[in-house]
Amino acid sequence: AAAYEIVSVNEFQVLARQALPKMYYDFYAGGAEDEHTLKKNVQEFQRIILQPRVLVDVSNIAMSTNILGYTISAPIMIAPTAMHKLAHPEGELATARAAAEFDTIMILSFSASSSVEEVAASCDAVRFFQLYVLKRRDIAVNLVQRAEKSGYKAIVLTADRPRRGRKEADIKNKMNLPQLKNLEGLMSIEVFSVSEILKWALSLYELLQDKGSNTKPYTNEIFDSSFCWRDIAWLKSITNLPILIKGILTREDGKIKVSSDDVFVTPFSIVLLATKAMEVGAAGIIVSNHGGRQLDYTPATISVLEEVVQAVGRKVPVLLDGGVRRGTDVFKALALGAQAVLVGRPVIYGLAAKGEAGVRKVMHMLKDELELTMALAGCPTLKDISRSHELDG
Ligand code: FNR
Repeated sequence: AAAYEIVSVNEFQVLARQALPKMYYDFYAGGAEDEHTLKKNVQEFQRIILQPRVLVDVSNIAMSTNILGYTISAPIMIAPTAMHKLAHPEGELATARAAAEFDTIMILSFSASSSVEEVAASCDAVRFFQLYVLKRRDIAVNLVQRAEKSGYKAIVLTADRPRRGRKEADIKNKMNLPQLKNLEGLMSIEVFSVSEILKWALSLYELLQDKGSNTKPYTNEIFDSSFCWRDIAWLKSITNLPILIKGILTREDGKIKVSSDDVFVTPFSIVLLATKAMEVGAAGIIVSNHGGRQLDYTPATISVLEEVVQAVGRKVPVLLDGGVRRGTDVFKALALGAQAVLVGRPVIYGLAAKGEAGVRKVMHMLKDELELTMALAGCPTLKDISRSHELDG
């Protein structure tokens, strides 16, 4: 047992660093290139100043909310993050149990170290499944159908990763990504074309030559970097589940023609349009820059949230992730129009430090802080939290 009480989410990062081999800690904590966006996600929250109201009856604070028809205990969900078993032997199963106890939604990562079915069997938390689309489209079909069959309630299509971002710590550490559990048995070598086999052989050769991290060839070769707006129709055709699009950072900028059969072309595939997402029938939008792990120098998510919310109106829920470390951060995101936030790294840090109990503690700390913030700001319900509770500038 720790000799001192842990009183804030950030302390779990310190504990995780002590608990994990450097290679794994860096994999979780790191961001792309200069890590500008990684830092900005946190810093831009810190720039927002709150404007409380006083002498409001705050004897009861109500935090539960509803996402796509599912009630959760607080507007705080679990973001999809890869490979929980590198943080703790119980991996995603421990995270899922914590989600169930906290009564929130867990989004299971495509790159999880536990299968869709294992996580479904281990707890009755409401679960969404996060999807990357591979060149082998049949694998997406397989995964989506398995998720549907095991009771996942939505598909979260992560759109900001046509290729893997460049995380320099992983390259230096020669970080090896284990086999993705959900793809076990699906990627046998005989189904590949000759050129794909050659590429795999080459990446294996580079690995054996100790040329470094295998994470780049492993993912870039198999991912479908041609997947675009037009293909959402295909995704909708293979599932009845609602589809949320994750990785949106802007509204329409007016210069780009948006017609129904238009293929959106831009040098930066991360520049996705909230309005476009509405057109293709997304059931929700997640404002995200992948925790600063993809394109560096994209804006902090909290800085662009309001623009996206205005573009979407109240038509579908807008969620936000990136840099949420305090109850005040959750409050700030709600004030700018998010319906809930997702937390990524803090969950992993809790898991690494103390397993399921650590994840529970992280989630409860955020919720308790949100409750106190709402009381001190004079907002007894989530609906009371408004733009006018933040100062401009
Ligand atoms: C991620 N993220 C992510 N997103 C996704 O859609 N699929 C994935 O497999 C992963 N994997 C992943 C691994 C790790 C170690 C991290 C830190 C992040 C991004 C994640 O869903 C989320 O966008 C960010 O983590 C949010 O930022 P914070 O909360 O980590 O600051």
